[in-house]
Amino acid sequence: MDFDIKNVDLAPGGRHRIEWAEQEMPVLRGVQGQFKNERPFAGLRISGCMHVTTETANLVISLQAGGADVVLCASNPLSTQDDVAASLVSHFEIPVFAIKGEDNDTYHKHIQAVIDHKPHIIMDDGSDVTSTIHKHRRDVMDNIIGGTEETTTGIIRLRAMAKDGALEFPMMAVNDALTKHLFDNRYGTGQSTMDGIVRATNYLIAGKVVVVAGYGWCSRGIAMRAKGLGANVIVTEIDYVKALEAVMDGFRVMPMVEAAPIGDIFVSATGNINVFDRHHFEVMKDGALLANSGHFDVEVNKKALYEMAGDPKRVRPFVDQFTLKDGRKLNLLGEGRLINLAAAEGHPASVMDMSFAGQALAAKYLKDHQGQLENRVYTMPAEVDQTIARIKLDAMGIDIDQLTERQREYLDSWEEGT
Ligand code: ADE
Repeated sequence: MDFDIKNVDLAPGGRHRIEWAEQEMPVLRGVQGQFKNERPFAGLRISGCMHVTTETANLVISLQAGGADVVLCASNPLSTQDDVAASLVSHFEIPVFAIKGEDNDTYHKHIQAVIDHKPHIIMDDGSDVTSTIHKHRRDVMDNIIGGTEETTTGIIRLRAMAKDGALEFPMMAVNDALTKHLFDNRYGTGQSTMDGIVRATNYLIAGKVVVVAGYGWCSRGIAMRAKGLGANVIVTEIDYVKALEAVMDGFRVMPMVEAAPIGDIFVSATGNINVFDRHHFEVMKDGALLANSGHFDVEVNKKALYEMAGDPKRVRPFVDQFTLKDGRKLNLLGEGRLINLAAAEGHPASVMDMSFAGQALAAKYLKDHQGQLENRVYTMPAEVDQTIARIKLDAMGIDIDQLTERQREYLDSWEEGT
C-alpha cells in the first residue's frame, strides 16, 4: 500500500484519540451502522482531501465501512495530526498522504496522489482536488460521479466554476446544510479558534481588545467566544446587514483602519485576501497578535510583513515575531494558516459529528442519484438536516414537542386568523 506519513509508530496514540472522538460522534456512528448494513459504496473509490484529524478519521472509517476504497490527503499543510495518519494507515489500511508541516510541493504531490486513486467520489475541503482535476488532471474525469465540499470558501470557488459553465460534475455543498454551518462554523470555529490562540500564546484573553474581521457564521462564533472569555470585542465588516447585526449583538463596529491601532489580538475569518494589510501593520500596537481562521493563508498579508520586517524570529511554536523598523513587534500565529487546526486540534468532535454525518450522507446521495444530477452545486436535502438534528438531540437525551392535529390544520389553512 502506498502512503506518505510522518511516522507509523505513532499509530497506537492516534487510535486512542480516534476512539475518544468517536464517543462524541453519535450521528456519524449511526450513519456508519447504516453503511455497514447497506454497503452503499461497494466497488467505489473515494478520494478525500480534508484536515487529517481524529474526526476526519471517523468519517473515512465510516466510508470504508460502507464498502468504499478510500484514500486521504491533507487540505492544509499544517493541520495534519500525524498520529491519526499513522493509525489510519496501520490499523485501518487507509492510505494517507499527509505530514504536519509539509512544504507546498509535498502538499501538491499529496493531492496528486489521491487523484491517482481515480476517484468515483471526491470529498473536498477547500476544493483543491476538484479544481486540480478540472485544470490539470482531466485524465480522471470520466470516472467521477460527483463530489462533496465542506467549506464556505470551497463552495464560493465551486459556484464561480458553475457560473462560468466550467464545473464538469455535480458537487454537494455540505457547508450549506443548517446542521453544518450553524454549529460547526459558529460554535466549532468560535471555540477552536480561541483554543488555538490560547495554546499558541498562553495569553489571558480577559481585558484584551480582540478585533474580529467579518461577521459570517465563523466570525460571529469567534466574537461570541472572545466576549465570553472577557475580551472587549470589535467587529469589522463590509456588509451593512451583518455590521448592523454585530452592533445589535453588542459589539463595537468600525473600519479596520480604525480598529488597527486599538486591537491587541486580530482574528480574521472572512475568506478574503489581505484583510490585515500593510497600512494596518503600520499603525498596530507593539505586541499585537495576528491570527487567521479562514480556509486559506491569504487573510494576513504575509508578503507585506516580510517586506516591512524581514525574516521573523520564531519565539514559540506557532508564533513568528516580526520586528518593524520602528521597533514594534507584530506576532503572526500559525504562519497565518488556520490557527484552530495549526495550533489546536480543530473543531471538537461533537460539532464535526453533524458536519461529517452530512458529508457521508451527501456522498451516499451522489451514489443514489448517479447519472441523474446536473453539473452544478447542490444544497443538501432539507430532510437530511432534520434527521441529523433529531439524532443529535436524541443522543443528548432531549425531546421536543410535536404539532397537534389542530395546530397542523391551523398552519395549513389560509382562512383562519383575524
Ligand atoms: N475543520 C475544522 N475542524 C476540523 C476537524 N476537527 N476535523 C476536520 N476538519 C475540521
